[in-house]
Amino acid sequence: MTSSAIPEQPLGFARGAPMRNRLALAPLTNLQSEEDGTLSDNEFAWLAKRAIGGFAMVMTCAATVHPLGKGFPRQLGIHADRHILRLERLASALRSAGALSAIQLQHSGARAPYHLIAEQPVGAVDDPERGVRGLSTAEVEQAVEDFVQAGIRAEKAGFDGVEVHGAHGYLPCQFLDVTRNSRTDRYGGSAEGRARMLIEMVTGLRARTRPDFQIGVRLSPERYGVDLGEMRGLTERLMRSGLVEYVDISCWDTFKIPEDPTYKGRALMDWFTDLDRHTTRLGVAGKLTTAGNVLECLRRGADFVLVGRGAILHHDFPRRIAEDTNFRSVDLPVSRFHLAREGLGKEFIDYLATWKGFVAEGQDQG
Ligand SMILES: Cc1cc2nc3c(=O)[nH]c(=O)nc-3n(C[C@H](O)[C@H](O)[C@H](O)COP(=O)(O)O)c2cc1C
Repeated sequence: MTSSAIPEQPLGFARGAPMRNRLALAPLTNLQSEEDGTLSDNEFAWLAKRAIGGFAMVMTCAATVHPLGKGFPRQLGIHADRHILRLERLASALRSAGALSAIQLQHSGARAPYHLIAEQPVGAVDDPERGVRGLSTAEVEQAVEDFVQAGIRAEKAGFDGVEVHGAHGYLPCQFLDVTRNSRTDRYGGSAEGRARMLIEMVTGLRARTRPDFQIGVRLSPERYGVDLGEMRGLTERLMRSGLVEYVDISCWDTFKIPEDPTYKGRALMDWFTDLDRHTTRLGVAGKLTTAGNVLECLRRGADFVLVGRGAILHHDFPRRIAEDTNFRSVDLPVSRFHLAREGLGKEFIDYLATWKGFVAEGQDQG
């Protein structure tokens, strides 16, 4: 085992403070915010408990950078200055518990449900079937500015950094979509054009936030219309740019063989570990629920891992894997009682009950 394959080892970044170990809380939408996107006490409690549980970086769920980007009811918002005050309290609690803090910046674009935004959703291109209007060039420039402004708010709130959500089919990913982005302006037409929006976002964030502000980008390696080779190229470019501290590859299943037969020769994460990282760190996420697969991921070259479901199930997942190399998250489904004891509020538990096989209904113990 190389020294970097030890989960408890700290990880430095090109800018800002280091992670105290190799485990980050993955961004997890939890529907616990106030109606206007303000951080609630339940959301504060859920996140603070993960910092106390040993996560080295605690990232919020996807937070909307613009009201039109709202994808979920009771979604966290960072599109207005009124959101800053409660976020300040969170940043300070996470720091006191020894964790780095990050806000994930998100815009649902074409995936924003009409009933939540009460306006026509906007996306990279017109989509009459889904009632989506393609953004004009000037509106894309404004959307870039919305992400930058949200990052400036995160900085004002005292966060260590932000992650731009460029994955999962949301707005920046809609621009990366090879199958759908048919734009003829500079935000389409080629791999370079498709990535332009994202590159402009991180360039703007870098230029207009303090020098030690940590900027990350989340990308999907496959699905959502993206091409794995193109995402590998974009990751390489981001790593070379010096604009970001980390790239987070959201695999959903880290060791899986890609769906596209062109890339079936290696598992998803392995398409990214051999890139020249310069000073940029590589994070990966997807089905890392045991000490064994966290270790395997680090051994195969990830600098850090982002844990979702394991962190929902165990607020102290990092501590548990440090103590027991055979640690495995409890089997699903789990009871509401278990989730409440792990610091989840009712809205979050109700949301998880909509994920197949997560919550065992009718049980109140365990
Ligand atoms: C309930 C739930 C909410 C999620 N919300 C987000 C989100 O807000 N932003 C995001 O980028 N990914 C989101 N994800 C994906 C996770 O960050 C993570 O990448 C994924 O769950 C795979 O990791 P895991 O197998 O450890 O859960 C969500 C996943 C779950 C299960």
